[in-house]
Amino acid sequence: MNPVRVIEAVRDGDSLDPDDLARFLEGYLAGEVEEYQMSAFLMAVVLKGLAPEALERLVGTMLHSGAVLDLSHLPGPRVDKHSTGGVGDKVSLVLAPLAAACGLYVPMMSGRGLGHTGGTLDKLEAIPGFRTDLSLERFAADLEAHKVAMIGQTAEIAPLDRRLYALRSVSGTVPSIPLIAASIMSKKLAEGLTGLVLDVKMGSGAFLPDRDKALELARTMVEIGARHGVPTTALPTAMDRPLGRSVGNALEVREAVECLHGGGPDDLREVTVALVVEMLAVSGAGPEGRSGAEADGSSADRGPDRDSLRTRVVERLESGAALELFSALVERQGGDPHVVEDTSRLPQAAVVEEVRSQRAGIVQEVHPFPLGRASVELGGGRIRLGQAIDPAVGFDRLVQPGDEVEEGSLLGVVHAARSEDARAAATVLREAVRVGGDPATLVPLLGTPLASSGDSP
Ligand code: URA
Repeated sequence: MNPVRVIEAVRDGDSLDPDDLARFLEGYLAGEVEEYQMSAFLMAVVLKGLAPEALERLVGTMLHSGAVLDLSHLPGPRVDKHSTGGVGDKVSLVLAPLAAACGLYVPMMSGRGLGHTGGTLDKLEAIPGFRTDLSLERFAADLEAHKVAMIGQTAEIAPLDRRLYALRSVSGTVPSIPLIAASIMSKKLAEGLTGLVLDVKMGSGAFLPDRDKALELARTMVEIGARHGVPTTALPTAMDRPLGRSVGNALEVREAVECLHGGGPDDLREVTVALVVEMLAVSGAGPEGRSGAEADGSSADRGPDRDSLRTRVVERLESGAALELFSALVERQGGDPHVVEDTSRLPQAAVVEEVRSQRAGIVQEVHPFPLGRASVELGGGRIRLGQAIDPAVGFDRLVQPGDEVEEGSLLGVVHAARSEDARAAATVLREAVRVGGDPATLVPLLGTPLASSGDSP
């Protein structure tokens, strides 16, 4: 296999022999294909796409580049959630303990920040001492004993995705249906799940801002799940504004903790609850008591009463059951458990600058993409491979569309390491918020779930 010919075939839209693709990918892991060749290949895929057979081989090669967990000894459904990537998306921190509090096993393996979006691992590591690098043995033991564990992709799980993910983040090669689908599905299929729920972000802050492309991504992933025997539901959610009122690792942990205490922003709570409802539905763990084993990847029999599921999920959130599980998880994984009661123990930025509105009116839009990118540039994400990040920086107390502001009232607060960074981020924030004028048409917070029977949202 000549790597240059593989790159050229994708670049020119020529047919690509799936075996050559597999050799190219394996060659990269073995150090025989260079980083610059892989970057060129990824960019060719972003621009030209991949044929279905090549995509299937990409998923298979990524999945089998590492271990596939066997958690079949666990006496209940094993369900995870994964997001296609958004700004201010701290859902997993609330969702994982909440889904466990509702009776599911949640073997959550998350990623780091990608492009302009944050990653759950970076957020968890903002909690002083928190370890996301547990061994697979420890992960499985924690799951069995406590129903939930949250770790990063270990070296054993889909190592090819791990390498490609880091490279895509710093080479402008994230926004691609086959690359996103293969990345997400390879690591999720390696978790040994009985069900999977995907949070498919819709709107300008998503990797695929075009609605049709986002839905095609959703369908592609749902079909991959079904082909591999994992019932999968995709829930479209809004990403034309940040989720919640904070963007940045420690700031998002604080908001997630507020949500676990029963407070926090309504949109964060609604999206989290809706995703947990879908997790219960896809597991068959609904009030009708169908078992995960009965779920077969078709949506036809996936009709547990969502209202009763929702009541149960909200009760588990409000009772403090999810908070208790989160606090125990933080302590088990080496983090400071007192953070859950006192978020001032999280890292704090040296410079905090308030940004105020220059006019009165209704907030029409809060553009997520510039805020996500500014958070990365403040040091909260990476622009080079392996770069260390600053957990304290970002934005909080952000306004949301529909908020009423007076002249001089707060649009948001910048947290930065240096004054010049704060000034630059404040300018981005001012420009990202539109007050008054024509009302914007917003993406609905929650779309219609899509499952593998081909229902369309
Ligand atoms: N999340 C992932 O794990 N991979 C992607 O490519 C995008 C979001």
